[in-house]
Amino acid sequence: MDQDQTASETALGDFYQVLKQRADEVSKAMVESLRSVEVGRPMREILDYALASPGKRIRSVMVLWTSELFVDRADSNATSAAVALEWVHTYSLIHDDLPAMDDDDFRRGHPTCHKVYGEAMAILAGDALLTAAFELLTREVDDSVLALRLIRELASAAGPAGMIAGQAADMGAEGEVRNAQQLEYVHLNKTAKLFRCAAVMGGICAGASPDHLDKLSDYGLNIGLAFQISDDILDVSGSTEQLGKTAGKDERAGKVTYPALFGMEQAREYAQSSVSRALEQLADFGPRSGRLKQLGRALVHRRR
Ligand code: IPE
Ligand code: IPE
Ligand code: MG
Ligand code: MG
Ligand code: MG
Repeated sequence: MDQDQTASETALGDFYQVLKQRADEVSKAMVESLRSVEVGRPMREILDYALASPGKRIRSVMVLWTSELFVDRADSNATSAAVALEWVHTYSLIHDDLPAMDDDDFRRGHPTCHKVYGEAMAILAGDALLTAAFELLTREVDDSVLALRLIRELASAAGPAGMIAGQAADMGAEGEVRNAQQLEYVHLNKTAKLFRCAAVMGGICAGASPDHLDKLSDYGLNIGLAFQISDDILDVSGSTEQLGKTAGKDERAGKVTYPALFGMEQAREYAQSSVSRALEQLADFGPRSGRLKQLGRALVHRRR
């Protein structure tokens, strides 16, 4: 191993440690925010199950780090935005795993919600998290105009012009996915728009200018595209144990993915060039953008 490679692996090791600390911070905030939501017993049990499972919290930590391009420490509004976004993401996974969608038995190393609590409760738990996320923003964000802007960002990223469009197309609802353009449409909508939302919400909380928000928007969208391409790659190259979800599932389900359409090598190149486009957006932000740059680089090497 040469010196450069050792240095970059050490840097990546430090990065994962910091990512874990910030992820723990978000997880703690999620528990606190959930305490203020009135939830009956069976639903509380399933929400605790879904929220306590070891997700990477990448989108929510991105909210904090984009905020910290402008302020020393992300404030409580950014933390609330991070929690709301993580709840929407968690809902999307619970529904994505349902028999009517990807029909998956494992998530984050544990049986999926519908496997443990049944389909009806899993659907309702997803609905609960989606709705509670918006209620949380109205309750916790200390400025009503800011709350409104965050709600609009999150609703449009997760809604029918965003994640829902991508998931519907992924299910074949808009016809068979056959070419690069259609596949990029799926990935941009089902995944990248929520990443874009994370980057923009962090900036909004810290009072970023419209010009800076545009840059964060491009950063987030490109990171999100690279993230979904690498998810497709890991489905082929990873193991069930390492991923915490069933590996090799996309091919068995006949999903059109980047590796299926272009082969592994070219899929990796697409992920890498999307990360490069993302990092170009950070050029103006100086040393404060270190974490966001590392996040981009870590994405192409991630193992889960
Ligand atoms: C999984 O997202 C769904 C995709 C969009 C690929 P993550 O890989 O971020 O899942 P968790 O939250 O860490 O489990
Ligand atoms: C999931 O994409 C995207 C959303 C949940 C919106 P995948 O179906 O590829 O995610 P995994 O592989 O199940 O995590
Ligand atoms: Mg899916
Ligand atoms: Mg899936
Ligand atoms: Mg996948």
